[in-house]
Amino acid sequence: MPFDFDTPIDRSGTWASRWERYAGRDVIPLWVADTDFRAPPAVLEAFAARVAHGVFGYSAPPDVLREAIVERMQQLYGWAIEPTWIVFLPGVVPGLHLAARHLCTADQHVLVPTPIYQHFKRAVQIAPREHDDVPLILHAGRWVFDEAHLARAVRKNSKLLFLCNPQNPGGTVFTRTELESLASLAERHDLVICSDEIHADLLMDEGKPHIPIASLSPEVSRRSVTLMSPNKTFNFPAAGVAFAIIEDAQLRAAFSRDHHATLHDASVFGYIGALAAYRHAQPWLDAQLAYLRGNRDLVEAMVGETPGLTMAHTEATYLAWIDASSLGVEDPFAHFLAHGVALSPGAQFGNPAFVRLNFGTQRARLVDALARMRSAADRA
Ligand SMILES: Cc1ncc(COP(=O)(O)O)c(C=O)c1O
Repeated sequence: MPFDFDTPIDRSGTWASRWERYAGRDVIPLWVADTDFRAPPAVLEAFAARVAHGVFGYSAPPDVLREAIVERMQQLYGWAIEPTWIVFLPGVVPGLHLAARHLCTADQHVLVPTPIYQHFKRAVQIAPREHDDVPLILHAGRWVFDEAHLARAVRKNSKLLFLCNPQNPGGTVFTRTELESLASLAERHDLVICSDEIHADLLMDEGKPHIPIASLSPEVSRRSVTLMSPNKTFNFPAAGVAFAIIEDAQLRAAFSRDHHATLHDASVFGYIGALAAYRHAQPWLDAQLAYLRGNRDLVEAMVGETPGLTMAHTEATYLAWIDASSLGVEDPFAHFLAHGVALSPGAQFGNPAFVRLNFGTQRARLVDALARMRSAADRA
């Protein structure tokens, strides 16, 4: 079945965060990480059927969804999990905040790789928890951990290691060897690993599989909290659903402390969307990945031929982390915005010399945006 990712969809008036901020201006918004694509037909049909039913009372996490997740982990990663290990959440972001608050105590220390999706930092700042940034380094064209730096950053009271795999904004899919090295550090220092794997299905390179760090071994699984969600992959983040996979019962109890208090259940549309996506939307996902790979190649080509811009190859996510430090402008975000493209400012992720571009949009719009960026760079 063919899927249409090319026809523009007018999102004005739908309260879309990415579009509302620049409404009425000649600005192409490529910042917040959602896509401009309709969710898969299977998801839309499942939503429609539930709307037709018409009753939206309180709902409990469905067992069939737990089973679908268990099957998915086995199929994709050979990872045998139990339905009871799954804790449903309204989003991955609450999971990051729960991890910072409940997986370590007020006098314990957290390791945060940077650059990183801003909510990791916000989580430790708001909790608040003592923390150290561990800068990723560009090695052989990939953003990876500097193991020596990471080892030096570990303190006596370190308890939590945050991981974002695949990495936002760097686009790295960490390899088994890289993950094993992180896991062995966690074991040596008795750290809990909280791994945000929301981008796990958005793999841009065939032959570079995602590996959940918890799937490495039972020992790693027992010290891990894995955060996942279908909402990024299948583009229904507004429906609100995510889940944590936590084998260890004590960690699970600690992590779940806010449930039905400050934290609400996932939305019924989240459960419905997740179930339909995991059961019936693989052909749509394959088509979306092919389309996004084409977009990724266009972004990399433009950056490659533009003096002043560089980027690492994006192995996963629909986000490009672009180094504009040689462009000769003080604020690359402001410079591109002045030329009609709204990107995410690199400062948000830890480096103001960069910008992050979301290429999850219709190709014609992306081509227009890339032309504007090229001309902005030429005028810098
Ligand atoms: C790494 C990462 N985690 C979490 C989120 C947001 O998760 P949610 O919408 O499920 O709260 C994003 C969105 O961009 C992300 O990139």
